[in-house]
Parts: sequence; structure tokens; C-alpha cells
Amino acid sequence: MSHTGAASAPGDSLTFADDLRDVAKGVNVCLDALLPLPMGGEKRVVEAMRYSALDGGKRLRPFLAVASADLFDVPHVQSLRAGAAVEMVHCYSLIHDDLPAMDDDDLRRGRPTCHKAFDEATAILAGDALLTRAFSVLSDEATHPSGDTRARLIAALAEAAGAEGMVGGQMLDLLAEQSDLGEGEIERLQALKTGKLLAVSCQIGGMLGQADAAALEDLKTYGLCLGAAFQIADDLLDLEATESDLGKATGKDGAAGKATFVSLHGPERARKRAKTLVDQAVAALSRFGETAEPLRAAAAFTVDRRS
Ligand code: IPE
Ligand code: IPE
Ligand code: MG
Ligand code: MG
Ligand code: MG
Repeated sequence: MSHTGAASAPGDSLTFADDLRDVAKGVNVCLDALLPLPMGGEKRVVEAMRYSALDGGKRLRPFLAVASADLFDVPHVQSLRAGAAVEMVHCYSLIHDDLPAMDDDDLRRGRPTCHKAFDEATAILAGDALLTRAFSVLSDEATHPSGDTRARLIAALAEAAGAEGMVGGQMLDLLAEQSDLGEGEIERLQALKTGKLLAVSCQIGGMLGQADAAALEDLKTYGLCLGAAFQIADDLLDLEATESDLGKATGKDGAAGKATFVSLHGPERARKRAKTLVDQAVAALSRFGETAEPLRAAAAFTVDRRS
């Protein structure tokens, strides 16, 4: 499938890696157009936004948005814009996650973190502005002609990003450095900080295609299971991968005493748990038949990935 703007049929490229690369290209073009540089002194904050949002990362969230929307034959121009909006929220979350007040990281996507390349205040502002830009993109008619649908997209992303979602999870994550959490508490933390944004990527794809409530619920279940597996894989990579593989520092969670599924049960049980979650994610796709193959491949990638 081609996501660079040309007409395409789902499944017409051979591998998940091709499909992911295709979406990454399409979303880069889209993000580039959505973040033009202004003329005045405020240019600096947009340079920081572009530094953190363009050309980097796996682009899994846009992939999920596009692949979910493809189930309903949504034009790629719409699903790429929605995917770009979620990616903006994701990039903002990474900029703030890396700040000294949070994880205090110097390396992200193989380059200096935003606050290292610019400065802390600019990084905070760049994150803020990526968050707000995401909602203005969703509110634009080019994302969907129906105002009702646009309002639903905005409400869904707001819930997934805010205190009931990613921000709430980040709060729990910081508190987890000071306390021993049980399995249920770790699962809840990870569902909020990571699962909700991955799940909403799928849900907005369905919303663009006017999916019915049952299909949207299945997409949400798929996204939450995939998100839980994805964060366990991230925690495993923090323990087992190298900085050059990941493009970010490793060994951080153990050093910070962070409660994760890996710290609680060890890597073997964590790996098994992630595989079970992938099976559950795939099971949630049964109603969609063959058209959901890219989403099944994404679920497998989530735990097999090396970065
Ligand atoms: C990293 O997300 C932060 C987590 C939620 C674990 P990704 O692993 O998707 O980061 P990029 O976008 O590929 O850099
Ligand atoms: C961050 O989790 C998840 C976010 C909401 C940004 P991590 O702190 O584990 O992500 P990395 O490992 O820095 O990418
Ligand atoms: Mg963190
Ligand atoms: Mg971090
Ligand atoms: Mg991590």
C-alpha cells in the first residue's frame, strides 16, 4: 500500500516493514506541510517542533491510524492527517518525558533531545505547541468533511492524551520510582501512559470511516492489548538492547528503580506476557477478516522489534 498521497490498494506491498516505511514517508510529508516556519522570533519554537517531529521514530501510531482507516476505505489524505495529529501528541510526550524534571535524557531517536539541541524553556514550549497543533489539525475540514466526526476525533484524542490517559500515566510513572507497585497497578500505569495513545490511533481510523460501536470497541481492545505489549517490549529493550540500537539511553528504568513488569517478574515472564497480549490483540480483529492483516503484522512487530 502506498501512503504518499497516490491511490493505493491495501496489501499491495509484501511486508510490514514496507508498509511501515510507506506510512512513515507519507506522515513526514504531512508533518512537514503542517509545521511551516514563521518569519518572526517565534520561529525558534517551530524549529524545535520540527526538530522533534520530523524524520525519526518508528511512526507506529500513524501506521495504526492508517491501517485502521484502511479497513473502511478512508482516503489516505484523511488518515495521514489524523495519524500526524497523534504523532504530534506522541512527539510532545517524548520531548517532555526527556526533560531533566522527568527522565533527564540526552539522546532521542539517535540525536540530542530537544532540550539539549535547544534549551529547556524552548523544549517545554515546543511540546506545548505540538499538543495544541494536533487539535487544530483534527479540527480542519481537510481531516474530515463532517463536523460531528471531527468533534469525535478531538474528544477521543483529548481523553487519550490528558489526565485520563498519557499525562495521568506519566504521573503514575514518576510516582512509581518511589513505591513498589503490584501487577495490577503497573498494568494500569502502562495502559494510561502508552496504551491509550496507541488505542486512540486505531479508534480515530475507525471514526474516520464511520465504524459502528462494536467495531470501534474491537479496535480499542486491539490497541490497548497492543499498547500493553508495546510498553513491556520497551521495558525489555531498556534492559537488553544497546543505546545505538534504540537511539536512546538504556538501563534507565533499573537505575531509577522504576516499577515495570520486567522489574516485578523478570524478563522471561515479561516476554511471555507480551506474547499473550499480542494474541489477545489479534483475537480482537476477528470481525475484520483479511483486510486487518497489516494490523496483525503490527501486533507481531510490537514484541519482535529490536528498536
Ligand atoms: C517510545 O515510543 C515511548 C513509549 C511509549 C514506550 P516509541 O518506541 O514509539 O518511539 P518512537 O516514536 O519510535 O521514537
Ligand atoms: C514514556 O515512557 C512514555 C511516554 C508517554 C512518553 P518511557 O519513559 O519508558 O519512554 P522512553 O523509554 O523514554 O522512550
Ligand atoms: Mg518516562
Ligand atoms: Mg523516558
Ligand atoms: Mg522506556
